[in-house]
Amino acid sequence: MAKANATHAPVLGIETSCDETGVAVYDQARGLMAHALHSQVDLHAVYGGVVPELASRDHVRRLLLLVERVLEQAGLQQGDLAGIAYTAGPGLVGALLVGASVARALAWGLGIPCLGVHHMEAHLLAPMLEPQPPAPPFVALLVSGGHTMLVHVRGIGEYEVLGETLDDALGEAFDKTAKILGLGYPGGPALSALAEGGDPRRFRFPRPMTDRPGLEFSFSGIKTFALNTFREAGPEAAADVARAFEEAVVDTLVIKSRRALQRTGARRLVVAGGVSANRRLRAALTELGGALGVGVYFPRPEFCTDNGAMVALTGALRLRAGEQARDLRIVVRPRWPLSELRPPGGRGVRADRRAPLPRPA
Ligand code: KG4
Ligand code: ZN
Repeated sequence: MAKANATHAPVLGIETSCDETGVAVYDQARGLMAHALHSQVDLHAVYGGVVPELASRDHVRRLLLLVERVLEQAGLQQGDLAGIAYTAGPGLVGALLVGASVARALAWGLGIPCLGVHHMEAHLLAPMLEPQPPAPPFVALLVSGGHTMLVHVRGIGEYEVLGETLDDALGEAFDKTAKILGLGYPGGPALSALAEGGDPRRFRFPRPMTDRPGLEFSFSGIKTFALNTFREAGPEAAADVARAFEEAVVDTLVIKSRRALQRTGARRLVVAGGVSANRRLRAALTELGGALGVGVYFPRPEFCTDNGAMVALTGALRLRAGEQARDLRIVVRPRWPLSELRPPGGRGVRADRRAPLPRPA
């Protein structure tokens, strides 16, 4: 890296893939130096979900201010930065382009390397921001608003997807069920809070796809089950329905995670993505780890949901290995399979490597 030396190579990380503007500085030697987040929840709440165009515009409004704030917190000038990383996908195309454009322009102006990173890899590596970071190989359970998957992580960048959801992502199922119960957006935390006071014995929801082998998930049926139960039982049953839903999905994730650990023989389980902030899920998976003698690792709750710290960390790992955007095109990938990634410095398919440059006529 241009201005890096062995002890001091602060990397700026920028996350704008959806409805949070996240910025952070991570330094391999000193760890996380500063981070800041602006959540757009209030902006989208009146619409009951994320409005992509509003998300992009708000990222434009917030991003540079957050960059300034984070640099100040870290006690750094722009010129001290050794590299910049941004989320290049998957995510909302307009929102991704804001972070990508700002990152590339800043890096170009400063003459430092810049790299687009994969949002789900960043989630997966977020537990490495904690004091006891997990070392590969491990099984990762990734549960966010857009993705639900079990991944066998043999090393950084060596990802075998063992199973994914066939329909709704888990966070999406939480949000949709919350909406059915009359809770606001985003519904995951609200549903979870309501479930606390619910009776776990009143309703029993199905544990989808657990009665057959395999590591796929399906959550759309359980959401419909919640809708029908709630319609039949009436509004006073909301907390009990929330509890039954949460019990069922947590059980399902425990069953599938156990299966993935047994199939791979891995001795560590990493859980990340927005839904990994869920208290009941954390408790159940920690218990599973205890029963199997497997170490279970989560990010701290604020780094479960989208944030700049995980992007800065992921960027630092890959920039250090010599990866960087090589031409001036700014490329984002709204869809980007995790399995395309390669180990840091390897000849993987990076965001900026997808399409060849068009040849001049
Ligand atoms: O990872 P994330 O911030 O964004 C995506 O990459 O999608 O995940 C957001 C999702 C939302 O669906 C939100 O409702 C859910 O994570 N979530 C939760 C909790 N906190 C966030 N779901 C259940 N319990 C929570 N405590
Ligand atoms: Zn995310």
